[in-house]
Amino acid sequence: MTHASADNPNAPTADEIRVGVGQLLQHLQRVGVAYLPVSDADAVAQWAAAFAPPVATEPVASTAATSGSLAEEASAAAVAPSAVVPQEPVRPPSDAAPPPSAPAPPPVAPIRPPEIRQPAAKPAPSSDQGPTVYTTVPQPIADRQASLEHWRQQVAQCTRCHELACTRKQTVFGAGNGQARVVFFGEAPGADEDREGVPFVGRAGQLLTKIIEATKLSRDEVYIMNTLKCRPPGNRNPLPDELANCRPFFETQLEIIQPEYIVCLGLFAAQSLLQSAPSIGRMRGRFHNYHGSKVVVTYHPSYLLRNAKMKGAVWQDMQMMMRDMGTLAP
Ligand code: URA
Repeated sequence: MTHASADNPNAPTADEIRVGVGQLLQHLQRVGVAYLPVSDADAVAQWAAAFAPPVATEPVASTAATSGSLAEEASAAAVAPSAVVPQEPVRPPSDAAPPPSAPAPPPVAPIRPPEIRQPAAKPAPSSDQGPTVYTTVPQPIADRQASLEHWRQQVAQCTRCHELACTRKQTVFGAGNGQARVVFFGEAPGADEDREGVPFVGRAGQLLTKIIEATKLSRDEVYIMNTLKCRPPGNRNPLPDELANCRPFFETQLEIIQPEYIVCLGLFAAQSLLQSAPSIGRMRGRFHNYHGSKVVVTYHPSYLLRNAKMKGAVWQDMQMMMRDMGTLAP
């Protein structure tokens, strides 16, 4: 419903003001503002006089009668902290953002805002530089799958990488358990994954399944995802811009799951996650840190398909993790 002022056809409509207030609140949350001070009643009254939509015509009158005026809503939002913080995860910018009049996104479990940040239960496992904890407390387990599903839908609409968006059959978000202890983190979907919408289902995926089972886990118990959510055409390497565009998505997935361990499969995964450039050989054999998750760096299953003798090295890396998890005798 839109209502321009009768006096001034250029005045913002009620819907435009509503959208503007929503965008301002989202911006405030993104920059870390969780609470607004209690508002000055006089200022609110002035604001209401200047911006409240006219009450004369019937549709506006019915809105005011049922849900309070826009000024009241805005003023209530300014006073009530819980109304100020949009109760959904901060969304990475997306070309596919819904239009202002689109229906509200499906209810998802909130990622709590920064003011309730708490220290991680465990100390950081290595001396790597970088944040030592996730920025939010873990979501209740029951809510994580719903949050992941919400993000899967966001990712499915992404058009940030023009070439990938034009050539993919579908996005490949990730699959598995929202409360996984271990996340396996690969590079990018191939042709099989692009067709099925599920990560690691081709030949490399079958080998990954064996690696997972060797760690006494199943695919259903872990979570599997990639740095890129779209297949690079011809399976070429991901480009720096593409990795940067997709980064907020994998960061959000990890923030939701907050796994104990992240296994980086291959150089792109390791470099993308840890934002450092050494070779796999130099990164193997110790735990790295990503926001408190212990990061294991190992070879990509596709590389093992071409260099079977490196399987022993991957098995060593998995054993290092299993000993730490308590699933293999020291
Ligand atoms: N290789 C990857 O890195 N990811 C997949 O999903 C499949 C192959």
